[in-house]
Amino acid sequence: MAATISQIFYGTLIHSLSLTELEFIHNALLGVDNQGKIAFLERNVSNEQTLRDIIKKWRTTEDKVVRLTNRQFLLPGFVDTHTHAPQYPNAGIGMDLPLLDWLNKYTFPLEQSFSSTKFAEKIYPIVVNHLLRCGTTTAVYFATIHLESSKILAKVVQQKGQRGFIGKVNMDCNSTETYVETMESSVKDTEQFVEYVLSLKNESTDESSLVTPIITPRFAISCTSKLMNSLGEIAKKHKIPIQSHLSENTAEVATVNELFPHHADYTTVYDHHKLLNHRTIMAHCIHLSPQERKLIKERNVGISHCPNSNFALCSGVCNVRQLLDEGIKVGLGTDISGGFSKSILDSIRNASIASRVIYISSKTNDKVYPHLTLPELTYLATMGGAQLVNLEDVIGNFTVGKEFDALLIDSEAEGSSMQIFDDIDTIDRIFEKFMFLGDERNIKAVFVKGRKVSGTDITNLEANSY
Ligand code: GUN
Ligand code: FE
Repeated sequence: MAATISQIFYGTLIHSLSLTELEFIHNALLGVDNQGKIAFLERNVSNEQTLRDIIKKWRTTEDKVVRLTNRQFLLPGFVDTHTHAPQYPNAGIGMDLPLLDWLNKYTFPLEQSFSSTKFAEKIYPIVVNHLLRCGTTTAVYFATIHLESSKILAKVVQQKGQRGFIGKVNMDCNSTETYVETMESSVKDTEQFVEYVLSLKNESTDESSLVTPIITPRFAISCTSKLMNSLGEIAKKHKIPIQSHLSENTAEVATVNELFPHHADYTTVYDHHKLLNHRTIMAHCIHLSPQERKLIKERNVGISHCPNSNFALCSGVCNVRQLLDEGIKVGLGTDISGGFSKSILDSIRNASIASRVIYISSKTNDKVYPHLTLPELTYLATMGGAQLVNLEDVIGNFTVGKEFDALLIDSEAEGSSMQIFDDIDTIDRIFEKFMFLGDERNIKAVFVKGRKVSGTDITNLEANSY
């Protein structure tokens, strides 16, 4: 029995097949079923008769077809593998301090405001709306230490239809006086939070709940050994992912070495507490030693590369080429508000620049690290992120059977910063321009699991010129 088709797209599709293979599918006809899955993908459908035949074969009708112009295309949705929802009000301010001082002066006081659920109710819907508008179909969030506000974030993500991993932050030491938990309350609240988010997942009748809890020790500095052990156990019991920060800043690394003198290095501290496995995402990882990278690879931990934040807080420049060469999983993160931009397009651009900085400084050395290419950047923003959240078989590209998380890009949207020249700009040039010049104005519609979660009406796109 064929699936019921709810929507069909006709036009150009662009997606990653692998780290180095970027595929352009011209005259593609892609059908989404009523479960939000990609039911079919036909290539080179160059005439109306073939189109009608395919539609007939799937027992559906032509009014379901959204026809893209030759200035529009579909991309897989972006995955933001590391961001702090409560820090959004600080995005764009406070770039005068390095990490540890920045946390104390700007970040902890703002996060403390989320002891008020009213504040959470005001801020979190704005954050999720803005991220969706920027094409972030999947986001991996840090909330704050507060149970009730963290629940609100999970609920908002669910209601708005974003795919989300939401973590209640844990910190029971080395913080400010007012922004800290006891070990006992941290564990108890985390258990309650996990139960709550899992119940959202289960109670969902329309299968639209895409939220998952993620265990979130802030970083080794703000967690006692006892707390980290308990968190490792909770993650194991529920088979849920873990996220934290690792080796972002040299003063941070030195502090961890002082706090945990019995362990060989920062990465080993997490490993000792059973926090490193294939479901773990570690943000930054700029200053890792070869032994630490080996351990990361052995444990199959994913790294969230947050280049805007790494530049803004002067933390360092991560050598992503080296991580990829060593077979480590990498995705992109905005790290709001360490990073000032909420958009993965910005992460793509800063990842490109960071890789060029590494390349330039390696050129005179024995080992040269080539900068990231357009196919690689595309992969990191989509498939790479999907791998980090263990959804590489569910999202990340337009393989039949995967769920339809997608962006409808319009290079000629009103107010667009992309200048398209008729006789010069082929679709591959238009795609490259979008990656470096486009913004949310060019993201006409955003789909998660087949459902439009942001954007304008797409029912009357201009007839195309195929
Ligand atoms: N390390 C510990 N907490 C944070 C945070 O909120 N942002 C960043 N960038 N690094 C951290
Ligand atoms: Fe962060």
